[in-house]
Amino acid sequence: IRKIGVLTSGGDAPGMNAAIRAVVRTCAFHDIKCYGIYRGYEGMIEGDFIEMDARSVKSIINKGGTILKSARSKEFRTKEGRAKAYEQLTKAGIDAFVVIGGDGSFTGAMVFNQEFNFPVMGIPGTIDNDIYGTSHTLGYDTALNTVVDAIDKIRDTASSHNRLFFIEVMGRDVGHIALNVGIAGGAEEILIPEEDLGLDRLVESLRRSKKSGKTSSIVVVAEGDKIGKSVFELKDYVDQNMEGYDVRVSVLGHMQRGGSPSCFDRVFASRMGVKAVENLLIGKSNYMVGMKNDVIELTPFDQAVKGKSKINKELLRVSDIMSI
Ligand code: F6P
Repeated sequence: IRKIGVLTSGGDAPGMNAAIRAVVRTCAFHDIKCYGIYRGYEGMIEGDFIEMDARSVKSIINKGGTILKSARSKEFRTKEGRAKAYEQLTKAGIDAFVVIGGDGSFTGAMVFNQEFNFPVMGIPGTIDNDIYGTSHTLGYDTALNTVVDAIDKIRDTASSHNRLFFIEVMGRDVGHIALNVGIAGGAEEILIPEEDLGLDRLVESLRRSKKSGKTSSIVVVAEGDKIGKSVFELKDYVDQNMEGYDVRVSVLGHMQRGGSPSCFDRVFASRMGVKAVENLLIGKSNYMVGMKNDVIELTPFDQAVKGKSKINKELLRVSDIMSI
């Protein structure tokens, strides 16, 4: 392998720049050429590449977003799109790539590898932490801290006005963010995609906390929660069915994906970048780099994309006890 490409794909996540830097610098360390591929698989199809050296990634370890930009490419899902991408890579002499993204991006890489026998490695980059085979995904730790900070601020105003807040956080398929920030932010209830708490239990819990002397409350809701109601519908329900609540809604949205990466994410990104490149160089391909028990390990793509990572049920119980 003489030239390695690197791209960021899917929803961006803090720490992606640190991972790009790690890939580029590991290539430089081993005297391998490195090419940045812009806008994920879109840029691969269009041949939108830039040669990168150790200095071209200076001062980005602390930056949110991704300097290579990101996209969710529809065209790469087609055989024709992938054939175009292969042609562009071959033309540029790129003979392997590292994709930083989520499970959709890994599925694309896996299919591409099967079709063209092209060496590929993945680095899990998504705030959702929803990938099997790694205890953490890149950006998750930063997002947790961003959200806890936001909840703390909302708590200030909730408590000044004796209000109940429904706070929506990201997480379409898994409740990792909601569950953790819910506990860390002292939420009354946490609604996640994995468990159906039910509206009755929610209402009962709110009544109980009011009776016990609480004057304000926070309910954290994952965007894909199982009750299947939006935060606005939840507010309407409480407005219509419960007396004496002044309810507000806050949807945190994409601010959760931005910001300077935490120390954990910067170190994690650096470790994974080294592992990804060095494994390509020893002939490994079709793996996702990840972490298990603080050790950086490889998981075959087909396993990584098969299942979502599971929530830790202990956290549900801790949250129940803490919100007494
Ligand atoms: O997968 C990351 C994520 O931020 C999800 O939590 C969220 O559902 C989705 O991306 C939002 O996607 P978009 O960037 O297309 O709005």
